[in-house]
Amino acid sequence: MRTPLVLGNWKMHGSQAFARALAEAVRARAEAFPGVELGVCPPYVMLPIVAKALDGSRVALGAQNVSEFGEGAYTGEISAGMLKDLGCTHVLVGHFERRQIFAESPVQVVQKLVAAHTAGLVPVLCVGETLAERQAGTTSRVIEAQLQPLLGHPEAAALLVGAIIAYEPVWAIGTGETASPAQAQAVHQDIRKLVAGRAPEAARSLRILYGGSVKPGNATELFAMPDIDGGLIGGAALKAEDFCAIAEAAASKRS
Ligand code: PGA
Repeated sequence: MRTPLVLGNWKMHGSQAFARALAEAVRARAEAFPGVELGVCPPYVMLPIVAKALDGSRVALGAQNVSEFGEGAYTGEISAGMLKDLGCTHVLVGHFERRQIFAESPVQVVQKLVAAHTAGLVPVLCVGETLAERQAGTTSRVIEAQLQPLLGHPEAAALLVGAIIAYEPVWAIGTGETASPAQAQAVHQDIRKLVAGRAPEAARSLRILYGGSVKPGNATELFAMPDIDGGLIGGAALKAEDFCAIAEAAASKRS
């Protein structure tokens, strides 16, 4: 049995006061979902504030991005070691917005994953197809290509232990459109199969999160799918009440 994980991606939202209040509100409700892992990924500059607000709680702290490099002359970058030092346990790599707006390449994304793994962080590798790719019937090929730099890595089996993959169809991110449970399950199953081809043990325990307009109203049916192990939540993670309602939906997967 894989423990469901509900991870909030706050993206570039909020202020110090907002971050503190949201973290405290999530923390206050988190005890109600003992069977679900919860985590939040605030903007970099909010990490210390949120770390303090979550200190001693069961809500994990994650970052939204990480440099592929270690310490050095990399202006504007944040290393995996720095995130670890701030109390992060998780980090997103290759979110669609990073790939598209900031032109992160598949190879760079895997370098980030390696940097996170080396520092002892849990990387959450995001993959997903665009609407045009889905309409052209190329979803599985696109997902396979995005996973290839990881699956083809000489250390793939070790890198996959404890790692998390998030399937986020680009057409569902922030659009209010959600993949149907069946559409999402089909891709999640594909991802698990692809990983099994490289690392069968890791594939069984691999958590694959669904992301893309997850809301309290659609979370239960998505999480009911056998290969959906929780969610990566954007917009709905900015309201503690919605985020925790989604966590409650994940809790019902266990019972
Ligand atoms: P959304 O974002 O829930 O607002 O669609 C999900 C994400 O981008 O991680």
